[in-house]
Amino acid sequence: MRVFVTGASGWIGSATVDELLAAGHEVTGLARSDAPAAALEAKGARVRRGDLDDLASIRAGAEAAEAVIHLANKHDFSNPAVSAAAERAAVQTIGDALAGTGRPFLLASGVAGLTPGRPAREDDPSPYHGPDSPRGGSENLALEFVDRGVHTVSLRFAPTVHGAGDHGFIAVIAAVAREKGVSGYPGDGTSRWAAVHRSDAARLVALGLAKAPAGARLHAVAEEGIPSRDIAEAIGRAFGLPVTSIAPNDVQGHFGWIGTFFSMDLAATSTVTRELLGWTPTGPTLIEDLDAGAYSARPAS
Ligand SMILES: NC(=O)c1ccc[n+]([C@@H]2O[C@H](COP(=O)([O-])OP(=O)(O)OC[C@H]3O[C@@H](n4cnc5c(N)ncnc54)[C@H](OP(=O)(O)O)[C@@H]3O)[C@@H](O)[C@H]2O)c1
Repeated sequence: MRVFVTGASGWIGSATVDELLAAGHEVTGLARSDAPAAALEAKGARVRRGDLDDLASIRAGAEAAEAVIHLANKHDFSNPAVSAAAERAAVQTIGDALAGTGRPFLLASGVAGLTPGRPAREDDPSPYHGPDSPRGGSENLALEFVDRGVHTVSLRFAPTVHGAGDHGFIAVIAAVAREKGVSGYPGDGTSRWAAVHRSDAARLVALGLAKAPAGARLHAVAEEGIPSRDIAEAIGRAFGLPVTSIAPNDVQGHFGWIGTFFSMDLAATSTVTRELLGWTPTGPTLIEDLDAGAYSARPAS
């Protein structure tokens, strides 16, 4: 299949491109600068040069493809409205381009805020609608295109897609620990995060492209929920730092923007996804990765 991948140079995207190429797909990756473009070409993918804001390029890439996997995100966590607006515009553009074709449109999403107080399941719809909601309400917007003849599949990634080289949330928390000289956890440390290893997440994306029905919400979740205290203790072990509770009122000051996420209970199950796709995660757990030094090689930039 000719697959157009946005975010093809990213943490999840680059592993996904490898999976797709290995499965025999012809991949075109969106790249906005020379280095990612060269990396894509070196592994045998094609390149479409363009920025997420260049909607004409996104549209042309989608129209030329037999499937679209949208993994790009601006990730401006200090100004999430910017990322959300770009995300919504890209999803609208891809949906419009694929309308009436029946072609697969897989897009990245998450589990934050879906079901406060209990682990999120695949049959839990996102409460986020409209441009002012988290991620610009992109999951629901994309799923609305099912009625317009698009084979939409939402990829709900665990809040940590971990592994050596990760620059995501766990790397940021580890960087805060190193900077402050103490590995903190919010409050009583019982807020939990679901987790998945990058290799399992990328394999799930490829399986989702091959097998998921239109309208599916897939959970890229290997571990249902790891308490923040366990995460902080593993970071403390990795860097030889003391571990301590950070009082709820001090969380923002201590952690910065990541404190909001680290305080949230972001547990999720993946029973439906595993049964639907025959997907079994095999990668290391988050704590195994931390204990093996996956986050010790270099601090997050
Ligand atoms: N990693 C996680 O733990 C996690 C968890 C839940 C959800 N997700 C979601 O999964 C998706 C992929 O995440 P990731 O961790 O792979 O992200 P990432 O490593 O930060 O990669 C982001 C990708 O988006 C591209 N990008 C950023 N701004 C762009 C722009 N203006 N125009 C074009 N491309 C742009 C980047 O390209 P450059 O190489 O040019 O910068 C890169 O390829 C995102 O939607 C993310 O929110 C990730």
